[in-house]
Parts: sequence; C-alpha cells; structure tokens
Amino acid sequence: MGVEIKIEHLTKSFGKQLIWKDVTLTVPAGEICVMLGPSGTGKSVLLKTLIGLIKPEEGSVVIEGVDIASCPEKELYEIRKLFGVLFQDGAMFGSMNLYDNVAFPLREHTKKSESEIRNIVMEKMDLVGLLGAEDKLPGEISGGMRKRAGLARALVLDPEIVLFDEPDSGLDPVRTAFLNQLIVDLNAQIDATFLIVTHDINTARTVPDNIGLLYHKHLAMFGPREMLLSSEEPVVRQFLNAQRVGPIGMSEEKDADELEAEKDQELPPLPPIPLQLEPSNGIPRRSQREPGAWCSENGVTPPPGSFAQGMSMAIGD
Ligand SMILES: Nc1ncnc2c1ncn2[C@@H]1O[C@H](COP(=O)(O)OP(=O)(O)O)[C@@H](O)[C@H]1O
Ligand SMILES: [Mg+2]
Repeated sequence: MGVEIKIEHLTKSFGKQLIWKDVTLTVPAGEICVMLGPSGTGKSVLLKTLIGLIKPEEGSVVIEGVDIASCPEKELYEIRKLFGVLFQDGAMFGSMNLYDNVAFPLREHTKKSESEIRNIVMEKMDLVGLLGAEDKLPGEISGGMRKRAGLARALVLDPEIVLFDEPDSGLDPVRTAFLNQLIVDLNAQIDATFLIVTHDINTARTVPDNIGLLYHKHLAMFGPREMLLSSEEPVVRQFLNAQRVGPIGMSEEKDADELEAEKDQELPPLPPIPLQLEPSNGIPRRSQREPGAWCSENGVTPPPGSFAQGMSMAIGD
C-alpha cells in the first residue's frame, strides 16, 4: 500500500553552491506526487538524497521510522529495497537484452531460481506493455520503450516507493501521454507511493494528487494539485501556466529592471483546471478525489471551465 516519506528541513550544498535549503514536505503513502522545477534546481539531487546516494548537510528523510540522511549503511541498504527508481535515460546496460536488464535486480538481490525470475520478469514486461521485446537490446528500441523497460526493472522487487526522474524527457507528446496513463494505471495496480520529477507542465497538471515546485533554492509550494493549479502565488502561477510574465526569467531569476518593466502588465486569467487522469479501467485509485473536492473544501473558486469533460489543454501565454 506504499509508505510515507517525511522530509524535514532538508538542506544540500556542493562546496559553496547551495542547491536548496529547508525543504519540508510529506509524500503521502500510496499517492502520486510531482516535483516540478526549472532545470538545475536540484530535482535529481533531491531524488538521490531520498535514496541515500547523496547526504544532506541538514534535515531528515524518514521512511518507516528510519532517517535515510543519518542512518548507518547497513540500514540504508535494507531501506533501499523499498525503492524502485526509473532514472532519466532508463539506465539500461547496453550489452544486455531487455530480459537480462529487467532480471538484473532479482539476480543481484534475491536468491530466486531462474524459473521464478522468469515469471516475475514476464509479469513486469507485460505490465509495461513490452511482452515480446525481451530479446531486444536497449540500443535497438525507441526512447519510449527504453523508459518502459526501465520501469519494468524498477518494479521487479515490488517497491513500496517508485521514484521517476523525468520519465517524459525526450519523449514526444503522444508517447508522454501513453507513459502518463501507464503511470496512473500502475499506481492503481501496485498501490505504491509515486514521486515523479519532471518539468513537463502537462504531466504536472493532469497526473498527480500533489504538486511541489522547487524554485530559487527552496520549495516554493507543495500541496494538492487543485491548490497549486488555482494558486495566484506569482512563481507557482507562472510555472504551472507556462507564462513569461512572473519572477522566473531566462536565467532563472529576473532582475529588478525586468520585473519593474512588467509591473503593470496584466496577467492572463488562470486557465481551467483539467480533470485528473484516471486509470484506464475506470476504477478510481485509492487516493483519487472527486474533481473540485479540494477547491470546495477550501472555499476556492476554480477558474471558469475547470473540470470539464474532454477539456483540451489551454496553457501558455
Ligand atoms: N555530485 C554532484 N557534485 C557537485 N554538484 C552537483 C552534483 N550533482 C548535482 N550537482 C549540481 O546540483 C545542481 C542541481 O542539479 P540537478 O539536481 O541535476 O538539477 P535538476 O535535476 O533539477 O535539473 C546543478 O547545478 C548540478 O551541477
Ligand atoms: Mg535532473
């Protein structure tokens, strides 16, 4: 059913370069979260910190009572078994076919027989729609298929937490749409906690239960999808709606002159909040809420046209 990740006051620097500070958020068990942020804001560093590959200077990452940031290697090794990670490029071994790539964690970390391994590998290949491609080498298949294979490998140890590092990078919009549907279907099926790092706004707007935004070396906001999509907070509003007007410039931050120049510019209205992507079998996920539930509970009027069936994306300036 997935486990919670409780992140408190996390701070990370490399030498003199501060990446982010005082990051505090709870990734709820079994839910889908998206972490957004401009390139270079430390999204990948955050994922690596969660699995203990990078040590923060301050703060804690608590999973099942263990603080990843400070626990001994032995405990870390055990906790890591809860994680499945889909790295940005799929991180496949180029000389191994997909079958051996997907079987790799089982051969490394378990004492399962080859026939047991075969059953698990075929089940996961089926889950990601790659049955029949077992003999292909990573170099022989498309980027979208490589991501699927990476996902199958991330799932073989039945993780409680799945981390995705830009699953949509390098994919065309149609492949991204298929992958997003697969992510939602998988969450419904395996009920694990999902944390997706991306800078694709369409993914962020339609897939998760919760959204976070890393910006300017801190966590600008984290909360339910409808909260961020109806937010007037300048950075959140600018990023989630892909607008030029706002504090984010070409080189991360605009200078005072630039901001002064656009002071009187009228902001375009917030676009409607789209419906959340549902599992393709029509059975709601455990953490899925009724459209508009957060808005009505919090007395927030969603932008006109929100939650309309078949609404097309209307973002950009
Ligand atoms: N191991 C490392 N040593 C030094 N600097 C690093 C290391 N890993 C990442 N960085 C730096 O941290 C910053 C954030 O990187 P990253 O997390 O990859 O950004 P994002 O994934 O948001 O695009 C970058 O400036 C990068 O150069
Ligand atoms: Mg990255």
